[in-house]
Amino acid sequence: MSQTTNTGARYAFDSSGPESFAQYARLERHLDQTTATRLAPPVLTAGMTCWEVGAGGGSIARLMSRIVGPSGLVIATDLDTSHMTRWDGVTELNNVTVMRHNVLNGPVKGGPFDLIHARLLLVHLPTPTEVLRELANALAPGGWLVIEEYEMTDPRSPLLAVPPGGDVALFDEVLAAIADELTRHGADLGWGRRVHQTMLAEGLLDVDSIVHRESWSGDPTGNMLYDINSRQLQPQMEAAGLPAKRLDEFRCMIRDPRFAALSYEFVSTRGRAPRKAEQS
Ligand SMILES: C[S@@+](CC[C@H](N)C(=O)[O-])C[C@H]1O[C@@H](n2cnc3c(N)ncnc32)[C@H](O)[C@@H]1O
Repeated sequence: MSQTTNTGARYAFDSSGPESFAQYARLERHLDQTTATRLAPPVLTAGMTCWEVGAGGGSIARLMSRIVGPSGLVIATDLDTSHMTRWDGVTELNNVTVMRHNVLNGPVKGGPFDLIHARLLLVHLPTPTEVLRELANALAPGGWLVIEEYEMTDPRSPLLAVPPGGDVALFDEVLAAIADELTRHGADLGWGRRVHQTMLAEGLLDVDSIVHRESWSGDPTGNMLYDINSRQLQPQMEAAGLPAKRLDEFRCMIRDPRFAALSYEFVSTRGRAPRKAEQS
């Protein structure tokens, strides 16, 4: 089941459903390299205390664990921590604490933090600005906040190549239906490009943003994220009037190796709290 937050908004995806494994694995393959670059020193270094919020499959919590080493600590939280208890047969790494926690209830205990990272989380929340403020307030002096989101308001079709007879309108229709479904669950699809301004407004320094986008070629195994999302949200999209047959046709088209489309636009923004000497 998708999970209800304390404001009544529900996270759109079923994090315990059969497709969730494919979703987390695909996100990690798409994004971990970019995230690792964004967390390079001085953002993440040995001995830090870190909070990985909405940790999902936990790949970034594991990265943090390796870098902070035995003198550091990583707290990895999520509404559903079951994906992290299956880490290669290891329940917990020595310097990682895994906790069920709803970020809408405020910061987890264990701060202040030298680094707080949240990827593809705030976009799904009804109050991303307020949550960002709470995360910023949970930083230690000089600590980093890294917020990474998909931005989904670009009106241009991401299509790059269509196989002969491919239905361009169907592709755009299904992507719009996925976006509608996320919005219906409270996601703010333009939030990714507002993070930078919001960090500045919270008084963070050295704020910078980068955008990552890549081509996704037709994947016969069904592991393209558009394919996975269409399966995850199929019952809701059918209820909203999109026939199952059309979704099957969509998946048939995007599994053709001659198909290609741009990924969702990934915006990574980071900023740091003022150090003691910089505080007014
Ligand atoms: C799209 S997944 C991203 C997972 C991971 N951050 C990644 O990028 O690979 C979003 C995650 O946020 C979690 N989540 C959603 N709402 C949350 C909330 N209110 N508090 C904590 N975690 C939440 C979900 O359970 C899910 O694991």
